[in-house]
Amino acid sequence: MSNIDVVIMAAGKGTRMNSSMPKVLHRLGGRALLQHVIETAGHIQARRVLVITGHQAEQVEAVLATQPGVASVRQMPQLGTGHAMQQAIPVLQDDGVTLVLSGDVPLIQADTLQALLQLCDAKHLALLTLQTPTPGGYGRILRGPAQQVTAIVEDKDATDEQRRIQEIYSGIMAVPTHLLRAWLARLDNRNAQGEFYLTDVVKFAVADGNEVKAHCIDQAWQVEGVNTPVQLAALECAYQHLQANRLMQQGVRLADPARFDVRGDLVCDRDVEIDINCVFEGKVHLGEGVRIGANCVIANADIGAGTHILPFTHIDGETQGVQIGHGARIGPFARLRPGATLGDDVHIGNFVEVKNSSLAKGAKANHLAYVGDAQVGERVNYGAGVITANYDGANKHQTLIEADVHVGSNSVLVAPVTLGAGGTIGAGSVVTKDTPPGSLTVARGKQVSIPNWQRPDKKNK
Ligand code: UD1
Ligand code: MG
Repeated sequence: MSNIDVVIMAAGKGTRMNSSMPKVLHRLGGRALLQHVIETAGHIQARRVLVITGHQAEQVEAVLATQPGVASVRQMPQLGTGHAMQQAIPVLQDDGVTLVLSGDVPLIQADTLQALLQLCDAKHLALLTLQTPTPGGYGRILRGPAQQVTAIVEDKDATDEQRRIQEIYSGIMAVPTHLLRAWLARLDNRNAQGEFYLTDVVKFAVADGNEVKAHCIDQAWQVEGVNTPVQLAALECAYQHLQANRLMQQGVRLADPARFDVRGDLVCDRDVEIDINCVFEGKVHLGEGVRIGANCVIANADIGAGTHILPFTHIDGETQGVQIGHGARIGPFARLRPGATLGDDVHIGNFVEVKNSSLAKGAKANHLAYVGDAQVGERVNYGAGVITANYDGANKHQTLIEADVHVGSNSVLVAPVTLGAGGTIGAGSVVTKDTPPGSLTVARGKQVSIPNWQRPDKKNK
């Protein structure tokens, strides 16, 4: 366990989001902004994660309650970043290093934080800075004749000359906790915004003879914050670009990395191909050689090697998951819902919906059908338009279709019902009773023809 205590600032208002939802709960890549920061804290083995809440604290704290090992401290009212840290410092231990992060800066990377922490020891404060051609609005890094950091000046307090400085403070710093405690006690709010600035600790460090180190990066996206929906969308784009690059480095072939979205965890084996406009949510695993056609949305699913998902297919396993075996062919326009468990070589065709059902190896439902609460045996052919009537208005019932059954088109299987192995169901049957193995069952009105049928004449006035 490290001696790193992470403090995530999340008490600010987020006015420019124009939203009734707290800013840090807005989603990026399917997860709350704050969640990204908490996960990154996990990657650097922080011994403690403390979130400072304030605006809409109840909503933020409700989300934090589901996060093991994350505590929160309230800042009421919000008098600046230094004031925020003054609320956290009483619960931090002097033997540690405090790493300050922002709940609205979601894409900071663990290796950048490691590099910053390397610069921070018992005597040194370390700042993460960014070299940028557009420093407007940020705190600027002031350096002395030997290039040593001397202070951070906030944009609103800066002179015109200082505003031309292109090295800015990212809002992220690492500082020995015992020093931070002493420096926070010395803050005042005599500045343009009348706030207690955390950034003022830099001048105290310099005054006390503690060298201030800077880890300067040039990847702006790592330290960019979310203040507006436009910035949120831009960071979403940067995040998706990262996901796409990571997967392509592993060998995944994306038709177009700019038209690909992961909102969760996508794990791919070798030789996976993904066409344009696909969205992956929750936990998705694609086995070796899986191909995903254009415009598919796939959530919480495990797809076996060599399976081909054709365009416009929607798969959502929700909490139960969807499992697909090897060499299956799903879609185009298929819909797989929670609890769909498909064996090897299963074919599911257009406008077929499968929910809470298993189809064994080689079973096929190729056109316009509903399979709900059913167990379908090997090699079953489930004809066009067949449905399981699984719901009696109050309860769900099971349908069991044994191996090698052929169900004729447009049949209704009224559950609970069992179709015996190798049987055939005539097209258009409404099957309400179990059918014996090997037999032909026809359950519909008999066809009658009346010869020379005269259609009625139109009546003349
Ligand atoms: C801060 C820095 C600035 C830096 C910039 C980087 C200070 C004084 N300035 O400015 O040098 O370039 O971040 O983005 O620190 N917060 C609280 N309580 C408060 C005020 C803010 O928790 O009372 C939180 C906010 O929710 C946010 C973070 O602190 O997560 C930064 O606050 P913000 O108001 O965005 O600070 P800036 O003025 O942008
Ligand atoms: Mg800000």
